[in-house]
Amino acid sequence: MKNAKKVAIIMLVAIAIVMGGYIAYSLAVQPEYQPQIEVFPGQIADDEADASVWGEFYPEHWESYQRNYEMRPTRYNGSVPEDKTIMYPYLPIIYGGMGFAEDYLEDRGHVYSVEDIRHIHESRRPLAVCWTCKSSQAHLIIEREGVDYYSMAWGDLEEEVVHPIGCLNCHNPEDMSLTVRNPAFIEAMDRLGIDVADATQQEMRSYVCGQCHVEYYFRPDDKYLIFPWDNGFHPDDIERYFDDIGFNDWTHAITGAEVIKIQHPEFELWSLSTHGQAGVSCADCHMPYVRVGNTKMSSHHWQSPLNTLNESCRTCHIQSVDWLRQQVYDRQDKTKRLLDIAAYALVDAIEEIALALEEGNYNEQSLEEARYLQRRAQLRVDFFIADNSTGAHNPTLALEVLGVAIEQAHEARKAAEMARLGELYEAPRDIQRGEGARDDAYLEQYN
Ligand code: HEC
Ligand code: HEC
Ligand code: HEC
Ligand code: HEC
Repeated sequence: MKNAKKVAIIMLVAIAIVMGGYIAYSLAVQPEYQPQIEVFPGQIADDEADASVWGEFYPEHWESYQRNYEMRPTRYNGSVPEDKTIMYPYLPIIYGGMGFAEDYLEDRGHVYSVEDIRHIHESRRPLAVCWTCKSSQAHLIIEREGVDYYSMAWGDLEEEVVHPIGCLNCHNPEDMSLTVRNPAFIEAMDRLGIDVADATQQEMRSYVCGQCHVEYYFRPDDKYLIFPWDNGFHPDDIERYFDDIGFNDWTHAITGAEVIKIQHPEFELWSLSTHGQAGVSCADCHMPYVRVGNTKMSSHHWQSPLNTLNESCRTCHIQSVDWLRQQVYDRQDKTKRLLDIAAYALVDAIEEIALALEEGNYNEQSLEEARYLQRRAQLRVDFFIADNSTGAHNPTLALEVLGVAIEQAHEARKAAEMARLGELYEAPRDIQRGEGARDDAYLEQYN
C-alpha cells in the first residue's frame, strides 16, 4: 500500500516534469510566428500581373490561392453566387430602377473577379473604371493612362484585362512586403490625415483589403474613383458627405427619390468595430496561419471565417469552435431580423409615396420630405445588405443604424400619408447619440 502510493507520487512528478519540460520547450523552440519570407529580388518583374508567374516562386501560396475556386455556402454568406433576392426578397422594390434590382449575386472568391464582371447583367453594364477592384492589372493601366483611365469606356479595356485579383494587388515583388495600389484608398486616407506610407505591418494587414472592400462613388463629371470618408466611416458621416455634395447614385423608379447605393463597406464597419479598435486585422480572421508541411504560412484562401474558426479566432479566444460559431450566428440572426424589419418598413414607405403620386394632388413639401427620408433609410439599410458579414463585423453599429433606419422609414411613410392628405409633415425631434447620458463630471462626484 505504502509502496503503491510512493510509485503513484513518483509517476505524477515524472509526468509533471515531462509536461513542464514540453511547455518550456514549445515556448522556447516555437517562437511567435514571424512571416519567413523567402525573397527573389529582380526575378519577378515589378509589373508582373500574372499570379501564376509568382506561383513558380511561391508554390504553397499559389496552391492556397487556387483554393479560391472552391464554393461553399454558410448560414448567410459564403461563396455560392446565389441571387441575393432569395435571402432579401425586398431588393427589387427598394432598388427600383437600378441595375442591382435585376442582378445582384452573392460574392465569391478573388479568382472569379474578372469572369464575374464580364457576365454582369446588361442593366449594370460596367464602366472601365470598375476594373480598379477586379484585376491586378488595374494600377498599371492607371499609371499608363493617367486620369484619363477613369473616363475610358468599358470596351476600351475589355480585351486587355485578363488577370483577376492577384499577388500584385497586395505585394511588392522585390521583397514581398505589403503594398497598396489603389490611388483612391491612399487619397482618402490622406484626407483623413493618415499617411499610408507610415503604416505599421499590422495596419497593412487591413489596408490591403481596404483598397476594394469599401463604399465608393464615381465623381459625376469625370468618373474619378473616390471613397467618401472625409467626415468619417459611420453611415451618418457618409450620408453627410453625400448630402453636402448633392450626390445620388440613381433616381428611384417608383418614387423619384434621389438615392444612394452603398457598396460592400467592410473596411468602414470593421474600422469602427470592437475588433478594429482592438487592432485585430482583416488578415487575422480571413488569412489565418495554416500549416503546410513543416512551414506555417498565411492562408491565401480568402473565405468565410466560419470555415476556419479554429485557426482564425482561437489564436485570441479561448472558447470552443462551437461557442464561437454560436456567437457569430447570434449576432447575424439579430442583425438580419432588424434588417428585414427596416427593409419592409422602407417598402411600405415606397408604396405610400407611390400611392400619393398616383392619386396626384398631394402636398409637394411633405412629399419631398418623404423622398428625403426614403434616401436616409435606404442608405442605412443598404449598409448592412452590402456588407458581406450580416452584422458580424460590427453588431453594435448594426443595432444603432438599423434602429435609426426603421424610424426614418416609418417617418417617410407618415410624410407620404400627410402629403396625400394635403397636410404639412413636421419631422419629430432628432434623437442624438448619448442623449440623456450622465457626463464624466457628474459621475466624478460619486468617486
Ligand atoms: C474578428 C474577425 C473578422 C475581422 C477582423 C474581419 N472579418 Fe470579415 N468576416 C468575419 C465573419 C465572422 C464573417 C461572416 C462570415 C459568414 O457569414 O459566412 C465575415 C465576412 C466577410 C466577408 C464575406 C465572406 C463571405 O463568405 O461572403 C468579406 C468579404 C469580409 N468579411 C471582408 C473583411 C474585410 C475586408 C475585413 C477588414 C476590413 C474583415 N472582413 C475583417 C470576421 C472578420
Ligand atoms: C489581397 C491581398 C493579397 C494578395 C492578393 C496576395 N497576398 Fe500574399 N499576403 C497578404 C498578407 C496580408 C500577408 C501577411 C503578411 C504579413 O503579415 O506580414 C501575405 C503574406 C504572403 C507571404 C509571406 C509568408 C506568409 O505566408 O505570411 C508570401 C510569400 C505571399 N504572401 C505570397 C503571395 C503570392 C505568391 C500571391 C499570389 C499568388 C499573394 N501572396 C497574393 C496579402 C495578399
Ligand atoms: C483589388 C480588389 C480587392 C482586394 C485588394 C481585396 N479584395 Fe476581397 N474581393 C474583391 C472582389 C471584387 C470580390 C468578389 C469577387 C467575385 O465575386 O467575383 C472579393 C471577395 C472577397 C471575399 C469573399 C469570398 C467568398 O468566399 O465569398 C472575401 C472573404 C474577401 N474578398 C476578403 C478579402 C480580404 C481579407 C482582403 C485583404 C487581405 C481582400 N479581400 C482584398 C476585391 C478585393
Ligand atoms: C487577434 C485577436 C483576435 C482574433 C483573431 C479574434 N478576436 Fe474576437 N475579440 C478580440 C478582442 C480583443 C475582443 C474585445 C473583447 C475582449 O477583449 O475579449 C474581441 C471580441 C469579440 C467578440 C465580442 C464583441 C463583438 O463584436 O460582438 C466576439 C463575438 C468575438 N470577438 C468573436 C470572434 C470571432 C468569431 C473571431 C474569428 C472569426 C475572432 N473573434 C477573432 C480579439 C480577437
